[in-house]
Amino acid sequence: MDIATGRNFLRSNWEKRSEIISDQQKNIPQPPLEKSFDEGSKLYDLISPDEIDLGNVPLKKVIEKRKSRRKFKNVPLTIEELSFLLWAIQGVKEIVKNGYATFRTVPSAGARHPLETYLAVYNVEDLPKGLYRYLPLEHKLLLIEQVENLTEKIIDACMGQRFAGECAVTFIWTAIPYRTEWRYSILSHKVILLDAGHVCQNLYLASEAINCGTCAIAAYDQQKMDELLGVDGYDELTIYVAPVGKI
Ligand SMILES: Cc1cc2nc3c(=O)[nH]c(=O)nc-3n(C[C@H](O)[C@H](O)[C@H](O)COP(=O)(O)O)c2cc1C
Repeated sequence: MDIATGRNFLRSNWEKRSEIISDQQKNIPQPPLEKSFDEGSKLYDLISPDEIDLGNVPLKKVIEKRKSRRKFKNVPLTIEELSFLLWAIQGVKEIVKNGYATFRTVPSAGARHPLETYLAVYNVEDLPKGLYRYLPLEHKLLLIEQVENLTEKIIDACMGQRFAGECAVTFIWTAIPYRTEWRYSILSHKVILLDAGHVCQNLYLASEAINCGTCAIAAYDQQKMDELLGVDGYDELTIYVAPVGKI
């Protein structure tokens, strides 16, 4: 790793697009919009966005109030609150062109939406503790595993940052790079991270709107977090973490 490589990664390189033939241009079928799951998996219903009522929350106040929060009350989130947060960060508003793309509550380069959202749930009403994955197309939660000592494992994977696991729920985002690479090839990696920024900012604002708080975390151990989620670190890898709790 050197500084020049890092800086080069910040460049758009879009002027080189005409030299690149993407898999989409080769007519290779596109990857699925969402990671698949086994039939018979344990799914939990969430509250539909149409039924979520926050009252009148002034956006200006929410933006003004936003800051990184690292201390949370030992108070559970409701399913309605968690449903709101999940919808705010990845909620699907429309599926277009026969499943070619989704439009969501956040923008994404080429509407590719390469991120998956995992939750380490410790303190949410009516939801057993455990590791989950959000299914944006179904607006449901998939139980992956009831991991023992989940809090401590998350803290360890976040380099000992205790607030990362001392909260109600930790959001962990992975990227499936090929979803974006299929369309943009080697131009994808910068925009995947830009996508993640939008997602996490929505989590900040949505959290503040319901008297919760969050803090973006980039200082995590890649291998430990990937292993905890059960992803291979190449075709799917952790890119961002954010604990949420009541403030
Ligand atoms: C990409 C990114 C990575 C961050 N990683 C961490 C982290 O690992 N640990 C931490 O305590 N804060 C982390 N933060 C939070 C910043 O420290 C915080 O945003 C900054 O101090 C400004 O404070 P504010 O968010 O309250 O305005 C991160 C923020 C961003 C945007």
